[in-house]
Amino acid sequence: NEKGVFYALDLGGTNFRILRVHLKGEGGGLAAQEFTEVSIPPNLMVGTSDELFGYIVEEVLKFVAQEGEDFHPAVGRKRELGFTFSFPVMQTSIASGTLIRWTKGFNVEDTVGQDVVVKLNAAMERKGLDMCNQRQVNDTVGTLAGGRYTNKDVVASVILGTGTNAAYVECVQAIPKWHGPLPKSGEMVVNTEWGNFQTSHLPLTEYDHALDAESINPGEQIFEKIISGMYLGEIVRRVLCRLAEEASFFGGSVPPKLKVPFILQTPDMSVMHHDMSPDLKLVGNKLKDVLDISNSSLKVRKVVIEVCNIVATRGARLAAAGLFGILKKIGRDTVKTGEQQRSVIAMDGGLFEHYTEFRKSLENTLCELLGSEVSEHIVIEHANDGSGIGAALLAASHSKYCQADES
Ligand code: BGC
Repeated sequence: NEKGVFYALDLGGTNFRILRVHLKGEGGGLAAQEFTEVSIPPNLMVGTSDELFGYIVEEVLKFVAQEGEDFHPAVGRKRELGFTFSFPVMQTSIASGTLIRWTKGFNVEDTVGQDVVVKLNAAMERKGLDMCNQRQVNDTVGTLAGGRYTNKDVVASVILGTGTNAAYVECVQAIPKWHGPLPKSGEMVVNTEWGNFQTSHLPLTEYDHALDAESINPGEQIFEKIISGMYLGEIVRRVLCRLAEEASFFGGSVPPKLKVPFILQTPDMSVMHHDMSPDLKLVGNKLKDVLDISNSSLKVRKVVIEVCNIVATRGARLAAAGLFGILKKIGRDTVKTGEQQRSVIAMDGGLFEHYTEFRKSLENTLCELLGSEVSEHIVIEHANDGSGIGAALLAASHSKYCQADES
């Protein structure tokens, strides 16, 4: 019910976002919101903690400097920041989080085992950014909170972007790990970190094993490595490279660019996969522009699309299976007698948003698993920018800790 202006910093991939939202209070929704998106220079993703957080804070400073009058904090109040940090952390309160490991291509070693809120606060102090930063959440949790703010039927959230993860609302009795005080509502949010899910039943191929072995986090995030946006294009590249090496798929020699890891990105793969033109012109253009392969035949282009289709469909079906598992866990996978509850899943992330075939395959698989009767009561909702807004809302709900005189 808090009203006022709140900032959020959303760090979870190669780009980070800074937002400010104006809340009307009393569940009245958002009066206004503004954001900016900044990409992180690749060297900072594998550098030191001070460099990374210093760079981020400098960008927040710039964004605050552009603040219009209607976003100024009330007299006597500090600006307040919610921090969405979308990596696995050990969290015992909303005000802190110890980084367990980096994912998604980050490898800033000196942050592992450290409290990321402390790191961010230290950078803010160094750079002279005077904001109250006491709330840290994962993007799935932010998306769940943001979704539930406007729709009480939201029971889970899923991120399908650079990385992947899901969170859901669980009865506290069902969480044996939790030994702290019990919330009045009897419910808690569980961040599953499903990206790190592993089982021998996953349909891994030699391409997946090689990708994992050559990654900066071998043995970790296996589910993520076969589902999420960071990796799908790279899997396709590996398959095409093999075709070139063993079947002279692109002619006598292997196109040199095809050997460069991560050169083919998932958005490129998506463009090729969706090419509906009779001569598959978009596939031809991508092969030329990204991989320097010219004069590809129609037959070759068709095979490229088939590879994209296989890789995307596998990822989408596995993501749907994960979501089905959550719905089953909370008993939303069956038809109830009496009034059937609606279950809404808040989804976000570039893969879900932009890769239509992936999204369609995920939705179809979920229907297939649930059956048509139950499916009618399950709604997948696009939670646009849910994680940032959710962080701002969580900042708002804890804002009593942030009076200007607190320091
Ligand atoms: C991280 C999660 C995050 C997900 C989606 C994964 O790599 O481990 O914490 O929620 O990406 O951003």
